[in-house]
Amino acid sequence: MRMLTTPHMAMPAIGLGTWPMRGAECEAAVRSALELGYRHIDTAEMYGNEVEIGRAIAGLPRRELFLTSKAWWDRTDGAAIRRACEESLARLRCAYLDLYLIHWPSPRLDLPSALEGLAGLVRDGLARAVGVANFPPGLLRRALALGIVPLACNQVEHHVYLGQEKLIALCAQHGMVLTSYTPLAKGRVVEDPVIRRIAAAHGATPGQVALAWALAQGPVAVIPKASGRARQAENLAAAALRLTPEEMQALAALPKDRRMVNPDFAPDWEAE
Ligand SMILES: NC(=O)c1ccc[n+]([C@@H]2O[C@H](COP(=O)([O-])OP(=O)(O)OC[C@H]3O[C@@H](n4cnc5c(N)ncnc54)[C@H](OP(=O)(O)O)[C@@H]3O)[C@@H](O)[C@H]2O)c1
Repeated sequence: MRMLTTPHMAMPAIGLGTWPMRGAECEAAVRSALELGYRHIDTAEMYGNEVEIGRAIAGLPRRELFLTSKAWWDRTDGAAIRRACEESLARLRCAYLDLYLIHWPSPRLDLPSALEGLAGLVRDGLARAVGVANFPPGLLRRALALGIVPLACNQVEHHVYLGQEKLIALCAQHGMVLTSYTPLAKGRVVEDPVIRRIAAAHGATPGQVALAWALAQGPVAVIPKASGRARQAENLAAAALRLTPEEMQALAALPKDRRMVNPDFAPDWEAE
């Protein structure tokens, strides 16, 4: 298992994304991923699948698993974030999370209070490490400058069509991981002629090329979602793929401004 080790945590570089799987589909997918060797599972209270994930992971020694969950954006002040985390832990039937994140910054986010809330989770052992998701660079800088709690991760959309150079540099500077969500551009990478050509040269798949590209950008983890066993295995094997400098250049030349996840409550991505 390829690991990303930072001052704050040791995280398997490839995890299983679980949105939007629910119910029996989600439980079966997580069981299958664990059998294949996945040891990093990404969920959130908003996904509505923590109970099923709790069932799927029940047989595994807890210390062997890296488990992430997230508080929804309307529960991020200090007291609410504690309740949200406790409820996730109850659904997952776990004593702690390896990583607990603020899922989205809302316009009414009280940043110091949210960070105090996260600090309390670490202090009291509910989370081994904490971080944020969907924080643009300016907001992440402000959160880091407050110095209330070490932030281990910013989970954001990042793929071969959406570069995140600024955020990756900021994460590297502060010993953080950038977790790439939607790392396969929701599966669209399979249609791309440039990616297909590179994949063919390695006897690999387009999905593997996209994941290898993301992993090579810095302290980056990827959490592709795959419901079936074959694609789960395919995605996990991307850790072994090494692209040449020419191939990296060809991938760098693809458009890098194609954002696919942009709900109406999203922050201003460019704000400083
Ligand atoms: N923090 C946030 O706000 C946030 C937002 C969005 C997502 N996320 C997390 O990130 C995870 C992944 O993102 P995502 O689901 O949006 O997008 P993604 O992982 O880029 O793409 C998932 C899609 O690609 C397909 N797929 C999987 N492996 C493939 C392969 N090797 N080749 C071709 N297609 C493949 C999947 O289909 P099958 O399942 O049918 O194989 C699914 O339709 C989510 O599950 C969630 O955990 C977080």
